[in-house]
Amino acid sequence: MGIVPVSVSSQIIENLTTGVVTIDRALVVCLVNPAAETIFEFSAKQMVGQPIARFWPDIGLLLEQALAGGQSFTRRDARLPLVGRDACVDLTVTPLMGRAGDRADSLVLEIHAVDRLRRLAHDEEIVDHHQAQRLVVQGLAHEIKNPLGGLRGAAQLLERQLGATEREYTRIIMREADRLQALVDRLSGPARLPRKTAVNIHQIFEHVRSLMLAEVGPAVHFRRDYDPSLPELNADPDQLVQAVLNLVRNSVEALRGPGTIWLRSRVERQFTIGQRRHRQVLRAEIEDTGRGVPPALRETLFYPMVTGRPEGTGLGLSIAQDIVRRHDGLIEYQSEPGRTVFRLFLPFEVKT
Ligand SMILES: Nc1ncnc2c1ncn2[C@@H]1O[C@H](COP(=O)(O)OP(=O)(O)OP(=O)(O)O)[C@@H](O)[C@H]1O
Ligand SMILES: [Mg+2]
Repeated sequence: MGIVPVSVSSQIIENLTTGVVTIDRALVVCLVNPAAETIFEFSAKQMVGQPIARFWPDIGLLLEQALAGGQSFTRRDARLPLVGRDACVDLTVTPLMGRAGDRADSLVLEIHAVDRLRRLAHDEEIVDHHQAQRLVVQGLAHEIKNPLGGLRGAAQLLERQLGATEREYTRIIMREADRLQALVDRLSGPARLPRKTAVNIHQIFEHVRSLMLAEVGPAVHFRRDYDPSLPELNADPDQLVQAVLNLVRNSVEALRGPGTIWLRSRVERQFTIGQRRHRQVLRAEIEDTGRGVPPALRETLFYPMVTGRPEGTGLGLSIAQDIVRRHDGLIEYQSEPGRTVFRLFLPFEVKT
């Protein structure tokens, strides 16, 4: 077997889905690959040259022992503290011997985000279920549409032959037929395929924010945390506004009064959606301080007609997920009372 050239091996490290970090004897970070950037939520630039303890405070002792003993070890389900939450990771530490071969010079950390693996398996199930459900609902909506048109037309004809008092009844028929028509239109989802152009997610966020501010006033505090260096998406701006609006509106409703909604944008590298791995995806988050998703709805939240509100139709999330799926993306969420985050993942460029 030939020797793999350095340029090729560094390319391999760059493209691994496993996070790789190397550290020296002083426990200072020397190398960070893109997968590790995603796991730690820091860039290589921010990490290299810094003590690993800054990013993973309680790992020091284990690493000291690995250096002293020259033994590699694996930790399953280790806790990696991140800002605002903990991640669960599998960690393998391998000491590299120095030139003299008598003691370890540096350590290689291989890190698997376990949460991510569990999440991916779950995602595919959600997406399959969701698509099956949508087909049923769309078929049903289609079947209702035609007779509904006939019903409304007949009421209109009848109206002409009736006196003023009876007309009130035909008006009720027409009004209710219109209401049903609007519901059926929403059930069918976006009528057209996305018309894609270059769009900036921040424009979408800002547009939705101004729409909602006009609706809810100052009680809801909108805070923005944008990554200004994000590339543009190739997407349908109207449809994205619709999807984001549905999510922000849900947050406003969950607040039931004063509260805070965060709009956040980040890049994720080497990210898998369904079966496809993307080099770079957008992570757009809508976070609120509301009461959280009712536990009974957690597993079926994205299905059509699932609602926790007496006046809800349960279509907002289903439509948003549909739009994002048409852009090869995915919406997922995390929720507890006081903190609910909906995350939209959208690929910046689609790899085939
Ligand atoms: N940010 C959130 N916080 C708490 N619960 C939420 C949040 N977003 C959605 N939900 C729950 O999920 C349910 C479904 O949301 P979805 O937007 O699909 O329908 P809806 O809001 O009930 O009706 P509509 O069709 O008018 O949007 C909501 O009724 C609510 O119970
Ligand atoms: Mg809604």
